[in-house]
Amino acid sequence: MKLFTSVVFLGAAAVALAGGAAGADGEISFEYHRYEELRKALVSVWLQCPTISRIYTIGESFEGRELLVLEMSDNPGTHEPGEPEFKYIANMHGNETIIDLVHNTRIHFMPSMNPDGFEKAASQPGEIKDWFVGRSNAQGVDLNRNFPDLDRIIYINEREGGANNHLLQNMKKAVDENTKLAPETKAVIHWIMDIPFVLSANLHGGDVVANYPYDETRTGSTHEYSSSPDDVMFKSLARSYSMYNPVMSDANRPPCRKNDDDSSFKDGITNGGAWYSVPGGMQDFNYLSSNCFEITLELSCDKFPNEDTLKTYWEQNRNSLVNYIEQVHRGVKGFVRDLQGNAISNASISVEGIDHDITTAKDGDYWRLLAPGNYKVGASAPGYLTVIKKVAVPYSPAARVDFELESLMERKEEEREELMDWWKMMSETLNF
Ligand SMILES: *[C@@H]1O[C@H](CO)[C@@H](O)[C@H](O)[C@H]1NC(C)=O
Ligand SMILES: *[C@@H]1O[C@H](CO)[C@@H](O)[C@H](O)[C@H]1NC(C)=O
Repeated sequence: MKLFTSVVFLGAAAVALAGGAAGADGEISFEYHRYEELRKALVSVWLQCPTISRIYTIGESFEGRELLVLEMSDNPGTHEPGEPEFKYIANMHGNETIIDLVHNTRIHFMPSMNPDGFEKAASQPGEIKDWFVGRSNAQGVDLNRNFPDLDRIIYINEREGGANNHLLQNMKKAVDENTKLAPETKAVIHWIMDIPFVLSANLHGGDVVANYPYDETRTGSTHEYSSSPDDVMFKSLARSYSMYNPVMSDANRPPCRKNDDDSSFKDGITNGGAWYSVPGGMQDFNYLSSNCFEITLELSCDKFPNEDTLKTYWEQNRNSLVNYIEQVHRGVKGFVRDLQGNAISNASISVEGIDHDITTAKDGDYWRLLAPGNYKVGASAPGYLTVIKKVAVPYSPAARVDFELESLMERKEEEREELMDWWKMMSETLNF
């Protein structure tokens, strides 16, 4: 059940990140945080680690609650050239091992993308919560069905030719003017398009599995394996989560509910479409509108687990959550520059055999997640000669490959000079 709920397991329970963030005495309190408490919890993390954290908001929910993000980085607030960006969306904990990551990664945590829905779900009386209360935002919009359906476009482009990445390019205005999009969805779309995210996961409850793209099937059928061009890497990413979670990876785990069809689950992972088709989801939107690879993590059979079980869930997921962030340092990374050393932004990085290009960020920096193997990686930009390099990619860390592109203007100038030299030589030799 990929419901984008409020519920968000671990309910924003004590955000314990980086070193001392696990509470002054190292204790994590396992309880749900309502919106006001959540704000306080984020502020307390920030107060404990002010030099490596920052709180910012990407917009407001329909009822005016802020969509807060906690950022952990050794230089909060700035994109450092060459340093990849990672995000978790939901409710989240951390651990001191994160401290190494903080030095070479910029990590963003959004504890609640749907604070209105969470308030509604959490304010139901009693321990047993109705599954569907608070699933939607305050307007009744299911946010995980509300993103522009880019799968439909990519499936046409696959057949008829057309862009294989950044399908919403130059359409920010259209997004802002689209009245069907909820304010939470719009805020997240801008966030995704403004920061050069490389890797992400969104956290849900309702089942126990790591789900990877595509979520929407090609034919429109309810269940159908729907591979993306990066199927191999996505499987590897999903496994990097499931294998550290003893419940998720347990092949003998009974289905969450007796009649659930989880025949598509293997090693705790599933292709989204093979499980059930989801149009307008956030996961596929990330991959098709930006450089960001996102998977969907279902962390508990129960959508609103009892508070006294939260600690157990945390223990089941802690190592997975950290290990998954580390995956951002896989594949190939580097810079694309011109012969004078100037950054070339928005250059395309293409990999032979994988029909999905990624692009360089503002400083010419790029990250191309790839499973281990030998690849031909090309860098190209309008007005420059394309360069292709052979790269052997290990499991990790990422192979460093920089590209220097010669501009076509320079090349023409060189050719003209060569021609002049040749002409001069010929005329001297032939004496005319
Ligand atoms: C953090 O995780 C590591 C292993 O991943 C573990 O050894 C350590 O005890 C954890 N620390 C806290 C505060 O949970
Ligand atoms: C990036 O490059 C693509 C294709 O080369 C182009 O369509 C797009 O407008 C460029 N985007 C920006 C922000 O320059």
